[in-house]
Amino acid sequence: MTEMKPVTEATTVKAPVLPDAQTVTDVKHWTDSLFSFKVSRPASLRFRSGEFVMIGLLGDNGKPLLRAYSIASPSWDEELEFYSIKVQDGPLTSKLQHIKPGDQIILRPKPVGTLVHDALLPGKRLWFFATGTGFAPFASLLREPQTYEDYDEVIITHTCREVAELEYGRQLIEDIRQDEMLAELMGEGFADKIRYYPTTTREKSPKMGRITNLLNDGTVFADLGIEGGIKPETDRAMVCGSLAFNLDIKEILEGFGLREGANSEPKEFVIEKAFVG
Ligand SMILES: Cc1cc2nc3c(=O)[nH]c(=O)nc-3n(C[C@H](O)[C@H](O)[C@H](O)COP(=O)(O)OP(=O)(O)OC[C@H]3O[C@@H](n4cnc5c(N)ncnc54)[C@H](O)[C@@H]3O)c2cc1C
Ligand SMILES: NC(=O)c1ccc[n+]([C@@H]2O[C@H](COP(=O)([O-])OP(=O)(O)OC[C@H]3O[C@@H](n4cnc5c(N)ncnc54)[C@H](OP(=O)(O)O)[C@@H]3O)[C@@H](O)[C@H]2O)c1
Repeated sequence: MTEMKPVTEATTVKAPVLPDAQTVTDVKHWTDSLFSFKVSRPASLRFRSGEFVMIGLLGDNGKPLLRAYSIASPSWDEELEFYSIKVQDGPLTSKLQHIKPGDQIILRPKPVGTLVHDALLPGKRLWFFATGTGFAPFASLLREPQTYEDYDEVIITHTCREVAELEYGRQLIEDIRQDEMLAELMGEGFADKIRYYPTTTREKSPKMGRITNLLNDGTVFADLGIEGGIKPETDRAMVCGSLAFNLDIKEILEGFGLREGANSEPKEFVIEKAFVG
C-alpha cells in the first residue's frame, strides 16, 4: 500500500527557485501550434516596444534553456506578454507549451532589437509586415502611443498558412479598437489609423496569397487605395518573419527606394527574424 503523507508536509515542499524567475499569470492556446502567455514584469525592466528578450526554462541538465522572444505587450504595461509557436520536438517549446498560471519561467532582463521607432527616420505611413509569430513585436508596437504620435497611418499585414493562425492578431486589433483605456492614453480615434491586412496561403480566406506577391502585383495598394505604392519620402516599414520572407520583403522595399536602418543609423525600414532556421 502507498504510504500517505500528511498534507502539511506535502504542501511545504518548495519548488526550486529559478534564476531571473517570473511568474506566469495567464496562458491562452490559439491553435495546436500557437499560444500566448503573460508573466509578471521585473520592477527594474525597461524596454522599448518592439524589442525582444531571452526567456526559457531550466533544461534537463539543470542549466537555463533560453530562446529569443519578442515582447508582445507594450512598454507601459504592468505585465509581459509573449506569443509563441509550439514546436513539438523543439527543446524549449515542447516544454513551454505546458506552462500554467503560477508556474515560473526564466526571463533575462536585457531587452534588445531593431524593430523600434528609434531605428526609423520620421515618416507619415508605417507598414508592419509579419508572418506567423512575427506578429509579436507588432502586438507591442500597435499598443505603443508613439506609433500614433509619429504616423498618420499604420498598416499591419499578417500572412499565415491558415485562418486560425491569424486569430491572435485579429482579436488583438479588435480589442485595441474597443479599449477605452487605450483611447484615453493615445487619444480618441487613434485606432482609426490602423489598417489591418490579413492574408492566408493554404486555407481559403477573404484575401489569399503571400503578401510579397500581393505587393508585387499591386493588389495591396489597390485594396487599400494607395496610389503610387510605397514611397521613400513618406513610407516606413518594419518586417518580422522567416529568413526567406525577410529577404523577399527587403528586396521589394529596396525596389521602392527604401533603405534598411538600424538603431545606430535610422533609415526607412528595419528587419528582424521571427525565428532562426
Ligand atoms: C529575434 C528573435 C525573436 C523571436 N521571437 C519569437 C516570438 O516572439 N515567438 C516565438 O514563438 N518565437 C520567437 N523566436 C523563435 C524562438 O527563439 C525559438 O526558436 C522558439 O521558441 C522555438 O524554440 P525551441 O527550442 O522549441 O525550438 P528551436 O530549436 O529554437 O527551433 C526549432 C525549429 O522550429 C522552427 N521555429 C522556431 N521558432 C519558430 C517560430 N516562432 N515560428 C515558426 N517556426 C519556428 C524553426 O524551423 C526552427 O529551426 C524568436 C527568434 C528570434 C531570433
Ligand atoms: N503552420 C503550420 O500549419 C505548420 C504545419 C507543419 C509544420 N510547420 C512548420 O513550422 C515552421 C514554421 O511554420 P509557419 O507556418 O509558422 O511559418 P512559415 O513557413 O514561415 O509560413 C508563414 C507564412 O509566411 C508565408 N511565407 C513563407 N515564406 C515566405 C516568403 N518568402 N515570402 C512571402 N511569404 C512567405 C507562408 O506562405 P506559404 O504557405 O506560401 O509558404 C505562410 O503563409 C516551418 O518549419 C514549418 O515546416 C508549420
